[in-house]
Amino acid sequence: MGNVILIGFMGCGKTTVGLRLSYRLRQSVIDTDKEIEKEEKRTISDIFATDGEAYFRAAETACLQKLIRSVSNQIISVGGGLPLREENRKLLHKLGQVFYLRAEPETIYERLKHDTTRPLLQCSDPKEKIRTLMGERDGHYRNAADVVIQVDGKSFEQIINEIEAQTLK
Ligand code: S3P
Repeated sequence: MGNVILIGFMGCGKTTVGLRLSYRLRQSVIDTDKEIEKEEKRTISDIFATDGEAYFRAAETACLQKLIRSVSNQIISVGGGLPLREENRKLLHKLGQVFYLRAEPETIYERLKHDTTRPLLQCSDPKEKIRTLMGERDGHYRNAADVVIQVDGKSFEQIINEIEAQTLK
């Protein structure tokens, strides 16, 4: 097995699916947001507040480049905005098999309506913001993906089974 990469909108379940998949496949799991927070010694919210989104996006590309040099046979979940850069989509393909966990905006809103850790959703109308961002992003996620998994209404067990069944051996 090569690397298994999970992409998708904030709140689609990448982190939890990644963790559970890592138990199932007995591989370790890496999360690009956590890697960046470790490297920067501060939270994503602090990075956005102090240095802005462009700085964070550059850190995401640097993180992917580092993973390509250093990681194999692992589960990698990536921040929701990472696949939006064309350069990053190419790097993702180089890094491994890409699964897009696709959720409807309503599902995302229900999961994240009380969340305070996503700077992009700290606005007056997060529901509308999710819809707008999803409209802009869905095509990019699809382009980046080898496999699309629709996750709405499914248990983590079901999602993991679907991923496992389609993982390249
Ligand atoms: C972002 C998603 C977040 C994090 C940052 C920006 C985005 O990651 O990278 O807040 O642009 O969608 P999760 O998808 O893990 O929430």
